[in-house]
Amino acid sequence: MTEYHIPVLELVLTMANAVDLVSPEVGGHHKRVTYLSSQLANEMGLSSRDTFDLVVAAALHDIGAFSIKERLATLDFELVSPHAHAEMGYLFLHRFQPFLRLAEIVRFHHVRWDGGQGATFNGYQVPASSHILHLADRIDVLSLDEEGGIPNPFKILDRIETERDRTFKPETVDAFRTFAAKEYIWLDLRSSNLDRILSDTLSEQILVLDDENMLSFAQLLAHLVDFRSRYTSTHTAGVAETARFLAEHVGMDRSHCRRVRLAGYLHDLGKLAVGREILDKESGLKEQEYGLLKAHPYFTRRILETIKDFSDIAIWASAHHERPDGTGYPFHERHQPIEARIIAVADVFTAITEDRPYRSAMNLNDAAKTLRQMSANCLLDSTLVELALTHQRELDETRRLAQAEASEQYAAIMAQAV
Ligand SMILES: [Fe+2]
Ligand SMILES: [Fe+2]
Ligand SMILES: [Fe+2]
Repeated sequence: MTEYHIPVLELVLTMANAVDLVSPEVGGHHKRVTYLSSQLANEMGLSSRDTFDLVVAAALHDIGAFSIKERLATLDFELVSPHAHAEMGYLFLHRFQPFLRLAEIVRFHHVRWDGGQGATFNGYQVPASSHILHLADRIDVLSLDEEGGIPNPFKILDRIETERDRTFKPETVDAFRTFAAKEYIWLDLRSSNLDRILSDTLSEQILVLDDENMLSFAQLLAHLVDFRSRYTSTHTAGVAETARFLAEHVGMDRSHCRRVRLAGYLHDLGKLAVGREILDKESGLKEQEYGLLKAHPYFTRRILETIKDFSDIAIWASAHHERPDGTGYPFHERHQPIEARIIAVADVFTAITEDRPYRSAMNLNDAAKTLRQMSANCLLDSTLVELALTHQRELDETRRLAQAEASEQYAAIMAQAV
């Protein structure tokens, strides 16, 4: 049994950073809300467990808003329909058992206090931390009006005070009042060192996961990625399971195969940073958009590198667009470990044999021709391509089953969505 040590906060902040890097319009929102939440938690004397749940929830709170347009909409002070993205975030996060509590916090992060009515919502108990997150989120939105300058705390406080007991829970407003006057808070908020400040202020908790939990965490991340594109909602599961199949047939032992499968589930993680607008374009990407799309394996590597136990998986997962002749991207490395070459073959095989709404899947004969051609052109590992073709039918069945299962999971999530 393998144990994985996951520095959750560091991981999710790196994910949030990747998102912010490519969509400057929402620049740093998640990170600042995490910082403000931790200040409020501190002021209110939350336990370390509650603080941890709150800050991780804060770092992920708008993860259910998939497009840049949706993300921008969450930055209006008065939201028109605030609960859809919160519910969506919850539906993803709660499937991972260790995130159950923080999923609840995310779910209700736009519930108004309304003189105490907001202690429940639609018959559900609203966690106290949801109201803290709500305030932290709105403080950041108000601070954005300052156009990059140091925010004026008194103006923000005045605005928040008018919503005391209406939008915001009184205790949270009181906590805010006690730190609003401290200049360093606002300087931190605009600091380019906010990452370091956050890691100094928050004592990181390490989540220890066994194989099964690790897989379900990787699947959670994979869902978040696949869900962003209406064309490839089950792609990742197909890649992960065909990669595991190839690893097995190369003769790797069980635990090695599991790690290859994990890398498969995580290979497109960096797509979190790419807007849905771009992922959904069938063709005709502008040069700059194509540049962003091609950045996704870069982000996959940088995000996964935050996990020490993943130093090899980070490389295997992020090299799937590298090619043996060095013409791939984004690292242009010629020599890839076999695990990375497996994922590259699994990625191409899955992409051409899966149905997409804008084109039907290739039949196995055509798929074989394509793979052979790519292998002849030095774009895929020729030995692995031969292996894949020898077991073509089984490989395809593996892909089909994995994708059918993933598609059921999506249907279950969508059935619950508001
Ligand atoms: Fe939100
Ligand atoms: Fe937000
Ligand atoms: Fe990719």
